[in-house]
Amino acid sequence: MSRKLFIAGNWKMNLNCAGAVDLAKALVKEIGGADSVDLAVCPPFIYLQTVKAATSGSRIAVGAQDMFYENDGAFTGEISGAMLKDAGCRYVILGHSERRHVIGETDELTNRKLLKALADGLDVIFCVGELLAERQAGKTLDVVSRQVKIGLEGVDKAKAQRITIAYEPVWAIGTGVTATPDQAQEVHALIRKLLADKYGKDLSQTMRIQYGGSVKPSNAKELLNQPDIDGALVGGASLKAADFVGIVRAGL
Ligand code: PGA
Repeated sequence: MSRKLFIAGNWKMNLNCAGAVDLAKALVKEIGGADSVDLAVCPPFIYLQTVKAATSGSRIAVGAQDMFYENDGAFTGEISGAMLKDAGCRYVILGHSERRHVIGETDELTNRKLLKALADGLDVIFCVGELLAERQAGKTLDVVSRQVKIGLEGVDKAKAQRITIAYEPVWAIGTGVTATPDQAQEVHALIRKLLADKYGKDLSQTMRIQYGGSVKPSNAKELLNQPDIDGALVGGASLKAADFVGIVRAGL
């Protein structure tokens, strides 16, 4: 089994150009050489190239927060996978809860984007997670199973290796409330089982499953110590260099 921890920062719709560069440079200085953990930052589209330049020569990769499923053409406002590759992206986040619940993206749309991202040579951070009402109604495992099953439809074994699943309970994102290590581990183990059913036990053991939702330096270690938690997708705390560095160090 080899699952290197993967810590990724999701900057969402934050920062300006100078702030993005400052943050990227501060991270390069502190953790740019860390080689026992994979690292990525995911700035807004418009800062991708600048942040890529600011992180060049370091071990910090760059990812986008979304993409569209067509190559080019009349799709006003959209960005293709080829454009992201061109801008130096290695990763793209797909199915983030804010795309699903603020913008209204469906499981089927997310799957379409995911297939295209893999075809375009991007590695995917594929997000799943239940709403508070779904958890309270005892539907967490059903919701996450549905999101994983539809999201990964048509993905073969070779391509599956390029997907990191991010379990992000919606009630924990940006709220300061974190899932307990046990709550998170329960869902991560379910996701591992779904991957084993689809791709076989061996491959499921090598695929990474990140936790996301109010990860901070103070709670990162106990989350990352869980057997099926292979990294973190960090929102708010990734906007402060010291906090993101603290989370990465907790995982080293
Ligand atoms: P948060 O966001 O760390 O601010 O909760 C996580 C995410 O949305 O990826």
